Amino acid sequence: MKTAPNGAATSAPAPAASAAASTTPTNGATMRALVKPSSAPGLTLDAHRPVPTLGPRDVLIRVTHAGICGTDRHIYEWDAWAAGRVPPGIVIGHEFVGIIERVGSAVSRFGPTAGIGLRVSAEGHICSGRDYNARTGNAHIARDTQILGVDRDGVFADFVAVPEENVWPVHPSIPDHIAAILDPLGNAVHTVMAANVSAKTVLITGVGIIGLMAVTVAKCAGASRIFVTDLDERRLELARKLGAVRAWKANDPRWIDEVQDLTRGDGPDVLLEMSGHPGAIDDGFKALRMGGTAALLGIPSRPISFDLSSHVIFKGATVLGINGRRMFETWFQMEEMLLSGRLNLDPIVTHRIPLEDFATGFELMQTGEGIKVVMELTKP
Ligand SMILES: NC(=O)c1ccc[n+]([C@@H]2O[C@H](COP(=O)([O-])OP(=O)(O)OC[C@H]3O[C@@H](n4cnc5c(N)ncnc54)[C@H](O)[C@@H]3O)[C@@H](O)[C@H]2O)c1
Ligand SMILES: [Zn+2]
Repeated sequence: MKTAPNGAATSAPAPAASAAASTTPTNGATMRALVKPSSAPGLTLDAHRPVPTLGPRDVLIRVTHAGICGTDRHIYEWDAWAAGRVPPGIVIGHEFVGIIERVGSAVSRFGPTAGIGLRVSAEGHICSGRDYNARTGNAHIARDTQILGVDRDGVFADFVAVPEENVWPVHPSIPDHIAAILDPLGNAVHTVMAANVSAKTVLITGVGIIGLMAVTVAKCAGASRIFVTDLDERRLELARKLGAVRAWKANDPRWIDEVQDLTRGDGPDVLLEMSGHPGAIDDGFKALRMGGTAALLGIPSRPISFDLSSHVIFKGATVLGINGRRMFETWFQMEEMLLSGRLNLDPIVTHRIPLEDFATGFELMQTGEGIKVVMELTKP
């Protein structure tokens, strides 16, 4: 038996009822799944979770590799956000690659047999396609979005069911450990592409998982020079390796003056905010050039106070809120960037572990030793 940091047992008590309609058990087959058993910290590895049954337009995917995300950590630790959002009983996880096992009776993209065995990932934001934004090319901000592993059963399991529209066939030359993390890479690509970085100086505040990805993505997208801040020296060092020309400790009082000196006194053209930390947001806007563009991905843990007049109005700044990935423009851009050979993601995937060692994976993230941890789900 393994024990989570909070002391919660992580071996299997009786599985809780599924939170998602798509996982109503009918055929008796079972699988391994990482489940949030109750409204408390910890996770349970359930060896006998019913395999999801398929709606007519769903695809059943056998998960082979899955990335652990900061969101999964929130659910594992059961913070206020998780407690207010996530239904106990759910299978968590949303970053993955796998193989199509079976398709529903009305699936038209892959079936009935042609798609079986295809290596795929999937967009984890699922919507009905009926609201204004979904119908006008902005499905990433649809009102009725449900997120895999947050609102409905996710991918830390041998099988997951997703609607066919969300399935993304993975190019054969993209390796599994990268295909497993297309979801966060898509966040980085969406942010960088929204901010239009070509031939521009770019400041990234917060080079954690997505910020580090954004360094290599911004370079690929033609940013002239990339500057970064973080509080963690190991991440700053990695950002330098990935192409940042300067990397400052965020608590260094000189960094805003220095970045402005390096940019004709004006400040960087583009801010990519990827920490969600109020101080980093404030400093990032202070550093940004008058008339610059700020693309905000980081999510503050609570409402923050912010100097709107100085940072946006008098600065004439353009501010972009970034949510998820554009469907599916971001996915095509991401594939092209990967195929160009100009993204360097290998140093970001620091650990690969079997599903059974999930507690170690979360500990690696909590200590900061791990950046992206990918779990392998091949059966022992
Ligand atoms: N908008 C979206 O759709 C979306 C999607 C995924 C993640 N997010 C958010 O994006 C952010 C980044 O996600 P991640 O997975 O890379 O998280 P992460 O925890 O790996 O990275 C955050 C980084 O910010 C750094 N940091 C903390 N305080 C800082 C400060 N004052 N100045 C500079 N850096 C500081 C941390 O050291 C860490 O390296 C998080 O806030 C996450 O919630 C948003
Ligand atoms: Zn994620």
